[in-house]
Amino acid sequence: MKKTAQAPANIAFIKYWGKADEELRLPLNSSISMNLSEAYTVTTVEFSANLEHDEIRLLGGEFSEQEIERIVKALNFIRNKAHVTYFAHVVTKNTFPKGTGAAASASGFAALSVAAFAALGIELSEKELSIFARLGSGSACRSIPDGFVQWDKGKDSDTSYAYSLYPHDYWDLRDILIIVNNDMKKVSTTEGQKGVKTSPLWHDRVRGVPEKIEKIKASLKEKNFQTFGELVEEDCLDMHHVMQTQTPPLVYWNNKTRAIMDAVVDWRKKGLPVYFTIDAGPNVHLICEAKDEKTVMERVKSVPGILQVMVNKPAVGARLISAHLF
Ligand code: DP6
Repeated sequence: MKKTAQAPANIAFIKYWGKADEELRLPLNSSISMNLSEAYTVTTVEFSANLEHDEIRLLGGEFSEQEIERIVKALNFIRNKAHVTYFAHVVTKNTFPKGTGAAASASGFAALSVAAFAALGIELSEKELSIFARLGSGSACRSIPDGFVQWDKGKDSDTSYAYSLYPHDYWDLRDILIIVNNDMKKVSTTEGQKGVKTSPLWHDRVRGVPEKIEKIKASLKEKNFQTFGELVEEDCLDMHHVMQTQTPPLVYWNNKTRAIMDAVVDWRKKGLPVYFTIDAGPNVHLICEAKDEKTVMERVKSVPGILQVMVNKPAVGARLISAHLF
């Protein structure tokens, strides 16, 4: 049976950086995110007795050997659960560049999990799908549920999964993703996180996350954009300070990243409510309310060196679609 899934990338407002268990991808802290409407992956999967190995293809790009290995590993988890040995034909495409801190592994492993289980005729709950997506990439578990999402770090594999706090139409926010660099990041998030405990700052950040999560959930409940935005920016900076003080240091920002961060602070001083957040790459996500999208976009256009801008709304989670890629 051939099945196709579409899954959104997600942007974390309270971020995941560091694992308590590497193999199971259990995080050191819980996190909060929003699915993105325009940044997504579509993946078609078909298992077949006629294949001698997994055939995995990325349309419009190429997977590295390590990426292929990681996808095969995720397929093995799925085959184990389903008690099948068939190899799979997997074709996938992204609406945005992978490896640039725009969360292609999140949407990718979420889409793979949904399509693969459906292709095997196995119906899993949202919680189980979130757990399998997590085994491929931690943040992928947050791309399964709808809209605004919490990933509880849990105590073991069965308790570490994501669920929806609010549906996608709860709050009309915008995530304006500014791409300043399309190159693959030099250090992957999986590799980078291995060094988290070499930072003298990691422990304090992790200890502070539960309180931040309570505060950001309160701001979501009240739709208090200023408090929400301040918490988003604060946690982004906290995570990057951890990254930058690891050995070896991980500096994902470049001059354009910094210029945009400075510009956002300046626009805010002049009365425009917009905040930034950045994942493991130089590209910047601007968070604002729908009413301010036009003004933010006008300001963004005046910044030199931007390659691409993608305006995201909050989105539904991973789901099956009927248009197959092969
Ligand atoms: C900076 O989920 O990509 O985007 O579990 O090793 O695949 P692995 O890591 P990944 O890490 C995401 C890190 C981040 C923050 C976040 O999305 O929470």
